[in-house]
Formats: sequence, C-alpha cells, structure tokens
Amino acid sequence: MLEVLNLEKTYGEGETKVKALQNINFTVRRGEFMLIVGSSGSGKTTLLNMIGLLDRPTRGKVIIDGVDTTALNDNDLSAFRNSKLGFIFQFSNLLPDLTVLENVVLPRKIQGTLAGAEDEARQLLKTVGLESQVDKFANKVSGGQAQRAAITRSLINKPAVVLADEPTGSLDSVSAEMTVQLLKSLNRKLNQTFIIVTHDRPQFGDVDKIITVKDGRIVEGELEANQP
Ligand SMILES: Nc1ncnc2c1ncn2[C@@H]1O[C@H](COP(=O)(O)OP(=O)(O)OP(=O)(O)O)[C@@H](O)[C@H]1O
Ligand SMILES: [Mg+2]
Repeated sequence: MLEVLNLEKTYGEGETKVKALQNINFTVRRGEFMLIVGSSGSGKTTLLNMIGLLDRPTRGKVIIDGVDTTALNDNDLSAFRNSKLGFIFQFSNLLPDLTVLENVVLPRKIQGTLAGAEDEARQLLKTVGLESQVDKFANKVSGGQAQRAAITRSLINKPAVVLADEPTGSLDSVSAEMTVQLLKSLNRKLNQTFIIVTHDRPQFGDVDKIITVKDGRIVEGELEANQP
C-alpha cells in the first residue's frame, strides 16, 4: 500500500551538496507497524518527509494506495496528503490558545469536513484517556497529555498512514512507555499503517518491520521483526 522506489534526495548544490538519501527501496503493507532507526544525521527525517509528501525527492517514487505521488502537482499533493496521512512530531505542536478539543478537530476544519468531527474527537480523546482534559487550553496540560492529544489530532482525518518523528523524544520514560503502548494499540484497533522514526528501538518492543538507515542508505534491508 506504500511503496518507495529508488528514492534519492540531494540537498543543495555544488560545494554544499549533501546526498541525504540514495537507493532507498521498501514496501509497507496496510496495518503494519514499522520503525525507521539509525544514528543522528543518517537520513531518517529526510526519509519520513519524503514518505509524508512534505518535500519532494530528487529521484525515485513514493506510491501510496496505488497513486504515484511524484506525478501530482502541488495542489493535488496537499489534498492527497491531508486525506491520506497523519503526522505526529517530537513536540506536540498544539496551538496553545486553543483547547485540546479545538486542536484535535483543527485538521477537519481545514479540510472543510467539520460535521461530526467534535463527537469523533471526544470519542478518540476518551480512547487515549484524555476525557477530563478536552476543554483545557493546550498549554495547561502535561507534555505526555499534549502528545496524546497530538496523536488524536493525527488520527481525526482517518489517515491510511500515520507518520511520527521521534514521538517519545521529548517525554519522560513513563509518558514515553504510555505513548508507545497507545500507538501500538491504535495500530491494532484501527488497522492503520504506522511509520515511526526513533532513536530508541528497544522502547517499541516487537514490531512488524524495521528499516535501519546509515549514511542515507538502508543497511539492514527490510528486516522483518519476527525473523530469527
Ligand atoms: N534542509 C536541509 N538542507 C541541507 N542538508 C540537510 C537538510 N536537512 C537535512 N540535511 C542533511 O541531510 C542528512 C540527513 O539529515 P536528517 O535530518 O534526515 O537526519 P536524521 O537521521 O533525521 O538525524 P537526527 O536523528 O539527528 O534527527 C544530514 O547530513 C543533514 O545534515
Ligand atoms: Mg531527524
């Protein structure tokens, strides 16, 4: 359902040219929980930005649900991104002047599909244990609570693929563990594909697939987590 073919990304030109990714190939199936790991500067965020259609590759293709996204113009690409993908960042990036509930429904407001969104948001917020926090301003909740709200926000558009860049990176170990368990249970329940960049591979336990990036290349190929 998500296919990356011969992906290459080069930043800059001439003297300052950086080949951030090269010869990247892999496939992720619907409902899979996949990790992207690798040391700092290896190209993880660059890869996630390519999969997330936030930036265009220099070469190669990203195919999502059968659509070659590299062939889309900027407008179609934005619309496609909004309907198919959900994002979670290292810091929750909630808007502080809005309540938790208002933050969560914001993507639907932007998409123009606000009808029913509030009820769905309340339901999802309950699933992540935030029912008592819905009407609080986003800057009045804890870091862990804010990250759970951000996860809810990433799911409100019912994306086919949820992408997260170091979602536990700014959390204490208890909140991080809770967030990992939450992501995994949502993945099982909603059958959405999760692609997560992390420095902390052990924190995630058993997963369906792990890609290790080193110097812009995949070094361990498509290692299936269940292989001996
Ligand atoms: N906008 C940019 N312009 C130029 N070079 C960049 C840009 N973004 C990233 N790079 C370079 O591309 C390479 C990969 O960077 P990337 O951010 O993808 O690494 P990362 O694996 O996410 O690292 P970290 O774990 O520290 O977040 C690095 O050499 C980095 O310096
Ligand atoms: Mg990064």
